[in-house]
Amino acid sequence: MAEMIYSPGLEGVIAGETAVCTISGGLSYRGYSIDDLCENATFEEVAYLLLENTPPDSSQLKKFKADLAENYRLDPQLEELIRKLPSDIPMMDYMRTAVSLVAHFDREVGDDSPEASLRKATRLVAQLPILLAFYHRLRQGKEPLEPRAEDSYAKNLLRLLTGKEPTAAHIKAMDVSLILYAEHEFNASTFATRIVCSTLSDLHSAITAGVGTLKGPLHGGANERVMEVLSEVGSSENAPSWVSEALAQKRRIMGFGHRVYKEGDPRAKILKAYCVPLANETNNQEMETIADIIEQAVSSEKGLPPNLDWPSARLYYYMGLPIDIYTPLFVLSRVTGWSAHYLEQQANNRLIRPRSKYTGKEGLRWPAN
Ligand code: ACO
Repeated sequence: MAEMIYSPGLEGVIAGETAVCTISGGLSYRGYSIDDLCENATFEEVAYLLLENTPPDSSQLKKFKADLAENYRLDPQLEELIRKLPSDIPMMDYMRTAVSLVAHFDREVGDDSPEASLRKATRLVAQLPILLAFYHRLRQGKEPLEPRAEDSYAKNLLRLLTGKEPTAAHIKAMDVSLILYAEHEFNASTFATRIVCSTLSDLHSAITAGVGTLKGPLHGGANERVMEVLSEVGSSENAPSWVSEALAQKRRIMGFGHRVYKEGDPRAKILKAYCVPLANETNNQEMETIADIIEQAVSSEKGLPPNLDWPSARLYYYMGLPIDIYTPLFVLSRVTGWSAHYLEQQANNRLIRPRSKYTGKEGLRWPAN
């Protein structure tokens, strides 16, 4: 038997092959750099690219958008079930339940063929923003709004959540954040999704596992905790000493560091450029200044650059979105990457079943005494 390698947290381990995305030589999805995609593509196009493994031509895009719009309406029985839920469920718990619940109403449940799984994934891309906005409005004591087939994904999302017509700047910034969150090779939640798929389980089960994994503050949950950092720091003057104390206490500063990007997360740089104009527009310049000072201090004291969650939290805050939906927004976007990985795993499956290094007792006799 070959010598077994052990790496805590699977750090540095190649755990499988993928053609969905690479981090080497800059982050790219299916060969297209994120810079190019953020500048020239929409979230719908990127979703298509990830799911279908090819950029859409105009008629494919038209059909994809029509497919999304066709799935905007939730089953009335599903709506009833959501209305019966307690109104104070933590939002990521709601998202996990929502993915699981919507599976019961999928017309192809039980068909796990690649073709049906792709159609289920497309439906989920359409349904998740509706499910999020539906519950969010209810918990505010408001009736959910009707999505519009003619609006872009980002525009619908913002209007359904806030009840206001979003500006072009907000739509573009949301679109870019969704593109940046869409895919990131073997991160923890994607790996969880692939593990579920590798047992020949269904797409909704795999995505439910992805949502549960994303919830943790070391992963997607960090974007909500970033706002705690910014509010705890409170002022530019306080920022350097707050960072020194936090690091001295060995606290993890949310929004900084990354398992793979030790020199900096390229996504954070792209999204930061969208924070500045939105901060100006909403009179939040002070928050940008505080964020800059924290960035400089964490970099000089610990050598840690910010990750994507650092600017995304501020961006969503400037858009007036409540903090507890920041990680659910990550879900809406990452469902495209999770699904692309599910389909890829399914197409060339081998059960994911690593070994463990035993550290317990040996050779004991029963009964104990
Ligand atoms: N704040 C303070 N110190 C940190 C941070 C941080 N955010 N991140 C890493 N460190 C420190 C560690 O304490 C360790 O210090 P030491 O060598 O003095 O003991 C050193 O940097 C190396 O850290 P590791 O734990 O080896 O880094 P790892 O690769 O395991 O961590 C992780 C990656 C989990 C993302 C980490 O940087 C972290 O906890 N960040 C905060 C949470 C966060 O922002 N998550 C979002 C990830 S990106 C995303 O999901 C889009």
